[in-house]
Amino acid sequence: MIFSKNKSIRVLVTGGSGFIGSSFIRFGLAHISWCQRIVNLDLLTYAANPENLRSIECDERYRFVQGDICDEALVESICCEEKIDAIVHFAAESHVDRSIVDPTAFYQTNVGGTLALLEVVRKRKGIHFHHISTDEVYGSLDFKEEPFSEKSPYRPNSPYAASKAAADHFVRAYGKTYEISCTLSHCSNNYGPYQHVEKFIPRVITSCIQRKQIPIYGTGHNVRDWIFVDDHAAAVWTILERGCPGEIYDIGGGCEMGNVALAHAIIEQIAKSREEDPKTLYALLEHIDDRPGHDLRYALSSEKIRCELQWKPQYDFVNGLKKTVKWYLGHQI
Ligand SMILES: NC(=O)c1ccc[n+]([C@@H]2O[C@H](COP(=O)([O-])OP(=O)(O)OC[C@H]3O[C@@H](n4cnc5c(N)ncnc54)[C@H](O)[C@@H]3O)[C@@H](O)[C@H]2O)c1
Repeated sequence: MIFSKNKSIRVLVTGGSGFIGSSFIRFGLAHISWCQRIVNLDLLTYAANPENLRSIECDERYRFVQGDICDEALVESICCEEKIDAIVHFAAESHVDRSIVDPTAFYQTNVGGTLALLEVVRKRKGIHFHHISTDEVYGSLDFKEEPFSEKSPYRPNSPYAASKAAADHFVRAYGKTYEISCTLSHCSNNYGPYQHVEKFIPRVITSCIQRKQIPIYGTGHNVRDWIFVDDHAAAVWTILERGCPGEIYDIGGGCEMGNVALAHAIIEQIAKSREEDPKTLYALLEHIDDRPGHDLRYALSSEKIRCELQWKPQYDFVNGLKKTVKWYLGHQI
C-alpha cells in the first residue's frame, strides 16, 4: 500500500493540462477524498489545452504552475513549498508521428524531463514517484499472440516508444539504486473528451464534422486496445492507494479494434447522433501510405491490476464512444 485513505496527500501532477493528466486531476478533485492538494506543472506546449481544467481551476485544492519538467530547480521549489507527497508524471511528447519527424524533442522531454524529476526525488527523500508509460514500449504483436503483460520484454519500434522505454528504465534504476518509492503503469490507447485533434479518434470525428478526408494508414487493419480516459485516471488513483512500491501495473481496456472498424463505429455513431446518412461519411475514408515502422497490434492484459488492486474499467466501448462523440459535437475544436 502506498497511501492509505487515512492520510491526505499532496500531489504534483506533470502534464496536467494535456488529455490524460487533466482527466486524472478532474477525477481526483471530484472523487478522491484523501487528495488534499494538486499542483499541476505544465509547460503548455501545443498539446495542452487550459480549457481541459476550466471546471476546476477555482478549486482551492488546485494550483497551476506553468513550467518545464526539465527545470530541476523549479520542480524542487514546488516540492519544497507545497510539501509534495507524490509526483504523478504524465508530461511527455506523446504523438508517434511527430516523433518520427523530430525524435530529439522526445528524447529531451520524455527522457531528460523524467530524469530531472527523478533527481529531485532522489535529493528530497520521501516523495513517491509514479511514472505514466505506454503499452507501446513492448513493441508489436501479431494477430495470434497473447496480449502483453508486465513480464513482456521491451521492444520499442518508434522513437516515441523508445523514449518512453528509456524513461521507464531510469525509473526502475532509480528505485533500485537510490531506494526511491516508485511505481510504473503501462496503459493502452486512451480515448475520450478533451483529446488533441491530431490523435486518431478526434481526427475521425472532426473530419466527419468538417466533411474532410479521413486518412487511414495502410490497410487500416492495425489493431489497438482502447480504454476510456477516466478509467485510466481511476486506475492510477487506485495504484496510489493500493499499489506496492517497485511494482509495474499494465492497464488495458480489453477492447481490441482495427482502425477501419473503429472509423466505421465512429461514423455510425455520428450519423445516428445527427440523424444523417452514414454513406456520405464513409466516402470520406482515404487510405494513405503506411506510417514507417507501424506496429501491427497492441493488446494488454490487465489481470494483475484487476486481481491485486481490484480495479476494472467502468466504461464499455459503446458508452465511452457515445460520450466522446457527443462531447466533440458540442465543442468547436
Ligand atoms: N494518449 C494515449 O493513448 C496514451 C496511452 C498510454 C500512455 N500515455 C502516456 O500518458 C501521458 C499523457 O499522455 P496524453 O495523451 O495526455 O498527452 P498530451 O500530449 O495530451 O499531454 C501532454 C502534456 O504534457 C505537457 N508537457 C509537454 N512537455 C512538457 C514539459 N517539458 N514540461 C511540462 N509539461 C510538458 C504538455 O503541455 C501537455 O499538456 C504521456 O506520458 C503518454 O506517453 C498516453
